[in-house]
Amino acid sequence: MEEVLTNPKAGFYINRDVFGAGGDFITSPEVSQMFGEMVGVWTMCLWEQMGQPEKVNLVELGPGRGTLMADLLRGTSKFEKFKKSLHIHMVECSPTLQKLQYSTLRCADEHNTGNNNDEGTISMLTGATVSWHATLEQVPSGTPTIIIGHEFYDALPVHQFQKASLGWCEKMVDVADDSSFRFVLSPQPTPATLLYLRKRCKWASQEEIAKLDHIEVCPKAMELTHSIAKRITSDGGGALIIDYGLNGIVSDSLQAIRKHKFVDILDNPGSADLSAYVDFASIKHSAEEASENVTVHGPITQSQFLGSLGINFRVEALLQNCTDEQAELLKTGYWRLVGDGEAPFWEGPDEETPIGMGTRYLAMAIVNKNHGVPIPFQ
Ligand SMILES: C[S@@+](CC[C@H](N)C(=O)[O-])C[C@H]1O[C@@H](n2cnc3c(N)ncnc32)[C@H](O)[C@@H]1O
Repeated sequence: MEEVLTNPKAGFYINRDVFGAGGDFITSPEVSQMFGEMVGVWTMCLWEQMGQPEKVNLVELGPGRGTLMADLLRGTSKFEKFKKSLHIHMVECSPTLQKLQYSTLRCADEHNTGNNNDEGTISMLTGATVSWHATLEQVPSGTPTIIIGHEFYDALPVHQFQKASLGWCEKMVDVADDSSFRFVLSPQPTPATLLYLRKRCKWASQEEIAKLDHIEVCPKAMELTHSIAKRITSDGGGALIIDYGLNGIVSDSLQAIRKHKFVDILDNPGSADLSAYVDFASIKHSAEEASENVTVHGPITQSQFLGSLGINFRVEALLQNCTDEQAELLKTGYWRLVGDGEAPFWEGPDEETPIGMGTRYLAMAIVNKNHGVPIPFQ
């Protein structure tokens, strides 16, 4: 999964823009500017709770086109003290997306993504300094830090386990006689079964496990959460994670999407997005295991998160001053962000109306315990 998504030559994310109508899928920041603006409200509120530090590293994990960060910066640009405190760090593995982010943030000097360069470059949106890194570890430490991860965890590779007559075995990829790929079950428990499955099951009840024939475990999510918790402990600050997932063990969710349609996971690897549901309970346990000095809040639904931060007021304000066409886009975007994934949420006959993201997506915060409970997780 990691290879398929991030291989430097043929990885899905590496060579192209995969977002939007002409790409493979759409994400909340691309649906409406209001998403990034609400994340901006959250970020500023946490910065207040942190005591308004003069310097803050604002880190985004997997920023895609850079839309969320641009909307966050525009939305908060009137707050001078906050604006001046920011140093932006984009954690991105794709050179193509780095360039796109660079132009979305209207960075100053040409073709310099400031890769791992502490000085970085300047975003003409607000005057903040911006640097790019391949991993969170490369972001300089020693400064209070706020980390945003939207649809980043779902791209991290999972192991899949299946209950068999011999006990839990691992699902593996094999090459068939005709050279195509196929799934097979390991003949006996693999090291991953002994290490990762055991670790994950320790955090679950017997009843929860007994109901399942398949279990997915994402060790990279556990490792990343450890790094986040350690960073927040040493430097102060917090993290916001928004993604689709469950507050418990995930069973069998790995999926492939190409051009907005589900396709076979093993078909033409690198040509379709692979993603898996995020196990928020595992993130909570990993953070608490890594440090006693962080607290974990949520998950709550995206709809609760955006609603409590005031998206209703924002959409009304925007609707006061726009064309009919813009109003239509704003309303569709709003309902798509907060609507229920199950029920139809928009009047009208359009069969292609996409389902809502309001309950399928969850929000969780990890913060340094000195800062109290972050808004809106009270
Ligand atoms: C599903 S997209 C989400 C993009 C954006 N956050 C949004 O919501 O529109 C995943 C992003 O994470 C990046 N990414 C995926 N795996 C990564 C990894 N291992 N290291 C760094 N970036 C990664 C991708 O290139 C892409 O920018």
